[in-house]
Amino acid sequence: PSARTFYDEVGGAPTFTRLVAHFYAGVRTDPVLAPLYPQDDWAGAEVRLRGFLEQYWGGPTTYSQQRGHPRLRMRHAPFAIGPVERDAWLTHMRAAVDSLGLSPEQDATLWGYLEMAARSMQNRFPAD
Ligand code: HEM
Repeated sequence: PSARTFYDEVGGAPTFTRLVAHFYAGVRTDPVLAPLYPQDDWAGAEVRLRGFLEQYWGGPTTYSQQRGHPRLRMRHAPFAIGPVERDAWLTHMRAAVDSLGLSPEQDATLWGYLEMAARSMQNRFPAD
């Protein structure tokens, strides 16, 4: 049998479904973030983020079968993501991670990645 992945360890698909549903419920109400998203395809946005995260943590590779190589920085280039957008994204993701009830170790693993990834997606660096 293959090694147990982080995806399995935290509960597999139901956990990632809860994470992303909670996250987008927040994003949809956020005056900074909501306008960036496709207003007629919130369900699709949810599927894409969930699929990516599941794949990243060792779950099914459905994301790449449907979307190809993630190239996330390139895919975010159309959106102006400065510190305000980045921090708003992280605030909703923090609440979503909190809702999962992970162990401290699991939380640190997941959150460390998400913080790093959000920093790397920032593509606007306003001067003070
Ligand atoms: C897509 C915003 C960070 C993963 C999107 C979309 C927006 C967006 C507006 C388009 C929605 C769609 O149609 O799918 C942001 C903002 C961020 C951020 C404002 C703040 C830093 C991240 C991070 C990750 C991520 C950190 C990964 C950990 C994705 C994925 C997609 C996506 C997988 C779908 C890509 C595709 O296949 O087209 N994001 N994002 N995003 N985002 Fe982000």
